[in-house]
Amino acid sequence: MSIVYYHRKQFLVDRGVYEPAEDTFLLADNLNIHPHEQVLELGTGCGLLAILAAEAGARVVATDVNQAALECARANAVTHGVVNRIDFRLGDLFEPVAGERLDLVIFNPPYLPVCPGEALGTPLDKAWEAGADGRAVIDPFLNNLSNHLTKAGQGLFVQSSLSDLSKTLKVLREKGLRFSMTRKKLPFEELFLFRVFK
Ligand SMILES: C[S@@+](CC[C@H](N)C(=O)[O-])C[C@H]1O[C@@H](n2cnc3c(N)ncnc32)[C@H](O)[C@@H]1O
Repeated sequence: MSIVYYHRKQFLVDRGVYEPAEDTFLLADNLNIHPHEQVLELGTGCGLLAILAAEAGARVVATDVNQAALECARANAVTHGVVNRIDFRLGDLFEPVAGERLDLVIFNPPYLPVCPGEALGTPLDKAWEAGADGRAVIDPFLNNLSNHLTKAGQGLFVQSSLSDLSKTLKVLREKGLRFSMTRKKLPFEELFLFRVFK
């Protein structure tokens, strides 16, 4: 187990669960939650982003494909006193919220390109493994995002320079979604933070 701090808030990260990193903190710094809004965090990991959203007054659905992540997130939510504001659901992408629309959908997706045959596929590896082009998860996410946003809903997600930024821009434009984008340079990649407007 490890401990991660964000603005002096402490989060426990169990073995087998993604440890919050630059991508997580880029999202955390830009959450901009409005009280009472309905938030979905896909792939919550240790729950840091879902917990910040709940602390800001949102009602949150937090999902993951990794059961260990959901248990870790729930334990952190108990510690932070917001477990009653977060609904934890196991499942792939939007499957746990079939038929539901949210005001804000947050996602820090797996985006590391991994050659076929090299993927390990353990629950922890699924936090970063994203197929040969790094788009195995972000593409279905982008294709379904607007179906799960309320009329004025927004999507907030990160994308790496390792997984074809131009494809994301193309898909968003094809879908007629307006967006803003900010960037953050890291030693071996660049991160892009997207806020998408329906
Ligand atoms: C990069 S980690 C981000 C974790 C956490 N949100 C954060 O920012 O620290 C990606 C998370 O998404 C989960 N995940 C991967 N594929 C998923 C999918 N298809 N549906 C839902 N969650 C998924 C992983 O298990 C992992 O917890």
